[in-house]
Amino acid sequence: MKHFLSINNLMATEAMDLVLRAKEMKDGDYRSDLLAGKTLAMIFEKASTRTRVSFEVGIRHLGGDTIFMTPADSQLGRSEPLKDTARVLSRYVQGMVVRTFAQKNVDDLARYGSIPVVNALTDMFHPCQIMSDMLTIYERTTNLKDLVISWIGDGNNMANSWINASVYFGFQLNIACPEGYTPNTAVLERALKMGAKVYVTDDPKAAIAGSHFVNTDVWASMGQEAEQKKREKAFAGYQLDEELLALADPNAKVLHCLPAHRGEEISESVFEGSQSIVFDQAENRLHMQKAILEWIYS
Ligand code: CP
Ligand code: NVA
Repeated sequence: MKHFLSINNLMATEAMDLVLRAKEMKDGDYRSDLLAGKTLAMIFEKASTRTRVSFEVGIRHLGGDTIFMTPADSQLGRSEPLKDTARVLSRYVQGMVVRTFAQKNVDDLARYGSIPVVNALTDMFHPCQIMSDMLTIYERTTNLKDLVISWIGDGNNMANSWINASVYFGFQLNIACPEGYTPNTAVLERALKMGAKVYVTDDPKAAIAGSHFVNTDVWASMGQEAEQKKREKAFAGYQLDEELLALADPNAKVLHCLPAHRGEEISESVFEGSQSIVFDQAENRLHMQKAILEWIYS
C-alpha cells in the first residue's frame, strides 16, 4: 500500500515518471475505471477550491466516488482523535485525501489506518501542488536540471516542497525570505546533504537574478491569519512586482499556487501580465491528481 504524505514517498525515478504520466493524461483527456467501486474520504480541516475540486473531479474521471468531510460536520470538530477516525474510515472507504495543520496528522492517519492517505496540504508540505507545478514547468522546458527557479516570500509549506522537489529534479533553487521566515531547517539540511542546489538569502534581488521560473505565495498561510499585520511588515520589499521581475531571465514565467493576494506578495500587473502562467498551473492540478491516484491504486 502506498501513501503520498510528501514527495519523499516517491522513489528516485518516480517523480519524473509522474510528471510524464500526468502530461499523457492531460493530452489524452484521460478517463478510466481504476477506482470503480472505490470511495475516497476527503477530510479538509482548512478551506480549498483547487485541491478539493481537482481531486473530486479527478477521482470521478477514474471511476471513483468521494465523501467530503470537515470538522464542522463530523466528529473531528468534537475532538474525536485522528487515530480513531483513521481506523473507522478504513472500514468504509478505500482512501483518505487530507488537508490539515500538522504533518503529524497525516502521518498518524497513515499509521493507524489501513488505507492510502494523500497529503492535500499541511503546514509543512503541499506535495500534490509541487508535482503539478513540475508538470507546468515541464510543459515549457523539458531540461529541468539546468533551470534556475526562485522563491520570493514566506518559507512555508510550498517553499519546503520546492526544496524537496529540487532533490528529485536537480534545478537550482534560490529562496529569498526575511529573517525569521526561512524554510524548515531539517528539510533544507536533508536536501543539501542529498546534493540539492539550494541558496537561501534575505535579498529578493539576489534570488530572482536570472531565474527561469519565479514563484511566490501568500505571506500569511491558512492558520496564520492572526499574524497578517505583523507579516505585512516583515515582508515589506518582497512583493513580486515588475521592477523585481525585470531582474529575472527575460523569458521568465511567474508561478503562484493560488489563491493570491494581489498588492501583497504579487502586484496586480505581474499577476495579470504576459509572464504569468498561474491558470495553466491551476489546471494542471487536475491532471497531476489523476497521475498520483494511479500511482497509488494501480
Ligand atoms: N493551491 C491550492 O492548494 O489551492 P486551494 O487552497 O484552493 O486548494
Ligand atoms: N501556503 C498557502 C498555500 C495555499 C494553497 C497556505 O498554506 O495557506
